[in-house]
Amino acid sequence: MSTAQTNAMNYQCPADAFKDRIILVTGAGEGIGRAAALALAKHGATVVLLGRTPAKLEAVYDEIKAMGAPEPAMAPVNLEVARPADFEELAGLLGDTFGRLDGILHNASVLGEITPLDQYGYSTWDSVLQVNLNAAFYLTRSLLPLLKDSADASILFTTSSVGRKGRAFWGAYAVSKFATEGLMQVLADELENVAPIRVNCINPGATATRMRAMAYPAEDATTLKRPEDILAPYLFLLGPAGHGVNGQSLDAQPR
Ligand SMILES: NC(=O)c1ccc[n+]([C@@H]2O[C@H](COP(=O)([O-])OP(=O)(O)OC[C@H]3O[C@@H](n4cnc5c(N)ncnc54)[C@H](OP(=O)(O)O)[C@@H]3O)[C@@H](O)[C@H]2O)c1
Repeated sequence: MSTAQTNAMNYQCPADAFKDRIILVTGAGEGIGRAAALALAKHGATVVLLGRTPAKLEAVYDEIKAMGAPEPAMAPVNLEVARPADFEELAGLLGDTFGRLDGILHNASVLGEITPLDQYGYSTWDSVLQVNLNAAFYLTRSLLPLLKDSADASILFTTSSVGRKGRAFWGAYAVSKFATEGLMQVLADELENVAPIRVNCINPGATATRMRAMAYPAEDATTLKRPEDILAPYLFLLGPAGHGVNGQSLDAQPR
């Protein structure tokens, strides 16, 4: 196990680790993104909640406010249809509001079909690649100037075991996660020694969420970790403790 992986697993996040940090989380309305947004806020972050369904974002917003954590911001964005100009507009709004950004957790994804490639739907292919890969690139590119204005920024992409070794029937989802690993590596290499921005991937591993239930409908979800149980490596990589870790793909549940 690498040093970064060991440190990430053993990380105990101090209560104020994210004080004065502004972190954007995609897919913040449900599942792992929701849990990560709540944990970041609990540790002092001002969280920008990006997601498709405004009602879910509002519920997370209310939970964060009720905790007494810094007031979050909401960015209702459908990553499947948003164009580069929409992300530039979002970057302008965040720049006007906060003046900089200290991190992005790219968490939103869709599963698509679990189907052999010779039967895989063309439109599903396009939408999975759009949400899981293209939108993550658009968002990253448009927000890079704000990240460069941070003294210590972190970009964290979400990968999967099927993005490291291909598996039959996982189609566009697996391919999108391979590409996400590639995007992370290219960007990490470009920014190394150029800007105080580190770029990494996290694989959450099997976690009880709606996506997991779609992929494994017969599984007993009570045997799985819950989103709130796997977050130590996320907080490690997104916050000050992850300083110096760049270009790595870590596991939240190493085997
Ligand atoms: N759960 C696992 O076992 C597991 C394992 C490996 C990797 N992962 C990865 O972990 C990440 C989180 O997955 P999860 O299990 O928490 O999934 P989830 O419960 O299905 O949540 C996915 C989130 O992404 C958002 N999203 C989907 N399409 C979107 C769109 N077009 N625009 C904006 N937001 C969109 C959803 O918003 P709505 O709620 O509004 O639909 C939801 O908040 C994903 O990257 C996934 O690939 C999960």
